[in-house]
Amino acid sequence: MTGADVNVHIMGGGDFGTMPDGRRVRRITLGEAPGPVLTVLDLGATVHSLEVTCGDGVRRNVVLGHASPADYLDSPHYLGGTIGRYANRIAGGRFVLDGREVRVGTHDRGNHLHGGPDGFNRRLWQLVEHSETQAHLVLRSPDGDQGFPGTLDAGVRFEVLGDGVRMTFEATTDAPTVVNLTNHAYFNLDGAGAGTVDDHHLAVEADEYTPVDPTGIPLGGHAAVAGSPFDFRAQARIGSAVRSGVEQVARARGIDHNYVLRGEGVRRVATLSSRRTQTRLDVHTDQPGLQVYTGNFLDGSSPAVGGTHRQGDGIALEAQLFPDTPRRPDFGSAMLRPGETYRATLEWRLGAVGSFQFQDPE
Ligand code: BGC
Repeated sequence: MTGADVNVHIMGGGDFGTMPDGRRVRRITLGEAPGPVLTVLDLGATVHSLEVTCGDGVRRNVVLGHASPADYLDSPHYLGGTIGRYANRIAGGRFVLDGREVRVGTHDRGNHLHGGPDGFNRRLWQLVEHSETQAHLVLRSPDGDQGFPGTLDAGVRFEVLGDGVRMTFEATTDAPTVVNLTNHAYFNLDGAGAGTVDDHHLAVEADEYTPVDPTGIPLGGHAAVAGSPFDFRAQARIGSAVRSGVEQVARARGIDHNYVLRGEGVRRVATLSSRRTQTRLDVHTDQPGLQVYTGNFLDGSSPAVGGTHRQGDGIALEAQLFPDTPRRPDFGSAMLRPGETYRATLEWRLGAVGSFQFQDPE
């Protein structure tokens, strides 16, 4: 099926307005109540909403979204977007690839962030397959796009499961390049617009995190989470961590750090939960790192569905390679060569808190 064929009829979907150049933006709906209902935009291959039955039996949308294409394009917050070519930061936007220096777009305090000024989250992706529970979107990124070498063919498959959503990211290239794709949804398990996630609890399967300089670039090496506000080995209240006042937290105005995940293969790497709605989110991925970002820079300036978003109104759990990997051989490799296929999996499983024990006082 081609993008043009799918144009004819979008099951359960609809028009989401237009791009500045007049192209239409589509909203695609996947799943059916009482199961999870996901809406995805072809603009940015964006997760626009995710409605689930919360642990208290009430249905809520648990991700933050904007109400129009213009709001997505004007916003610096990457709400629900597919991030590429390179999620997270590359220091100075410079790295060496096969002996040649590459310079990529910098729009974050002199560093590359989330694919550059015109990242994949701002592009109109092509819908190539669609059923009641799945959608496959693709994007061709030309050679030199935001400075990255090679024509990159990227794809994201969204699949609604009985208890959540699976995203499968893929990419191929015609010349050596780097790639690191993820989704940037912000969760609020009390429902988007319900206030901050300070009272949510978080657990992350990591013994170490990556301390950063004042511009968010890893300082080098990992630090133990033990004895610090970054310790989510056992579930801990988010509000206590972001108000702890230690230098690393103050620097980022909260948590905005990469966690060094235990294990490999698709495994559960984090659990977020709300006592208020008795709802739990498990994040599963095959990626080595998880950027935990507590919505530190949400400042109320971007119009949103149902109002606006202020600091801490959502938390992003971005499964990915470590930041700055193209400059740090000790962090692994972000290389993709012709003939290889980049693949990454991200799953969000939602349900009632069940046996999850809240340790901190109310
Ligand atoms: C980054 C933050 C950045 C935010 C933008 C996060 O993934 O780590 O530093 O401000 O994205 O929304």
